[in-house]
Amino acid sequence: MSVDILLTGAGGQLGWEVARRVRAPLTIKALSRSQLDITDRDLVFNTISAISPKVVINGAAYTAVDKAEADPKTAFAVNRDGPRYLAEACSYHDIPLIHVSTDYIFDGSKAGSYSEDDPAAPLGIYGESKWAGEVAVREGCARHVILRTSWVHGIHGNNFVKAMLRLAQSHDHIKVVDDQYGSPTFAGDLAEVVIIVSRLMIDGNLPQNGIGTFHCAGAGVTTWCNFAREIFKITKPEIVEVPVIQSISSAEYPTPSRRPINSALDCQKLAVIYGISLRPWEEALAEMLDGVLAADTLFGGP
Ligand SMILES: NC(=O)c1ccc[n+]([C@@H]2O[C@H](COP(=O)([O-])OP(=O)(O)OC[C@H]3O[C@@H](n4cnc5c(N)ncnc54)[C@H](OP(=O)(O)O)[C@@H]3O)[C@@H](O)[C@H]2O)c1
Repeated sequence: MSVDILLTGAGGQLGWEVARRVRAPLTIKALSRSQLDITDRDLVFNTISAISPKVVINGAAYTAVDKAEADPKTAFAVNRDGPRYLAEACSYHDIPLIHVSTDYIFDGSKAGSYSEDDPAAPLGIYGESKWAGEVAVREGCARHVILRTSWVHGIHGNNFVKAMLRLAQSHDHIKVVDDQYGSPTFAGDLAEVVIIVSRLMIDGNLPQNGIGTFHCAGAGVTTWCNFAREIFKITKPEIVEVPVIQSISSAEYPTPSRRPINSALDCQKLAVIYGISLRPWEEALAEMLDGVLAADTLFGGP
């Protein structure tokens, strides 16, 4: 059977959502890290050649922002070299590639939201390695779409939302940083965009100027602290006892990697060229929380 979509990083937040949302007649081969390590150049070339998909989606990434500071070798291998191998293999077989990047390529010094053309100036290894991955994709594969997103939370995998709910099990006070601004993005919403773009690529129907880099994040801007407050506003008190959320500054919560103070993404380009806008982040968060509680993945699950 022919395969329309080859997905890497199928075990991640985004990958899991893409794999479960692809519907017939589209077909997908979803490969987790154990099935396709994207840092293995020969394996990447052989796999793409053997499967011969119509589009490749790279859901694989090294996303441990703080750990990356102590392990730049792995971060660059996964976030720069892996995407480069995928881009070169896709280009060789004339297959389009969808890649995902991050708001952390910006330094946060801009007053408003970041557009696709604003200069990259990452503050840490993770952002540097992701920026290098973007460059590798642009250079390696002409037929690419890079979706830059932010503050991803999904039903499957680990993220800020689950961390807050787990903390609330044992803490009645939680301190959360209140001076970093960004947009929470539900992995399910991002997956839907990835699938729409895949379908357009497969059908040869990409809109004019549809190749390139696009910002794609939940609508609205907030802080981590307000994000936490919203989580507990939505979650019923019989599921977790609502803790007191105490607002603190980044200076009071030092981390190995610096993070941008403002990483809000201007998503107009995606709206104008593709006609796609994500819904308000609060609405998406409510669906994510429903999914987490229904899947029972919070306490003890993946
Ligand atoms: N998470 C965020 O807040 C965030 C924010 C902005 C942008 N993004 C970007 O959004 C994309 C999706 O992120 P996500 O949250 O879904 O990440 P995630 O949950 O960490 O998933 C990444 C997946 O990649 C896999 N992986 C790691 N190394 C690999 C390798 N060498 N070969 C193949 N697979 C490998 C991981 O496998 P293991 O589970 O085995 O490690 C994991 O399943 C990434 O490009 C990320 O940079 C994420």
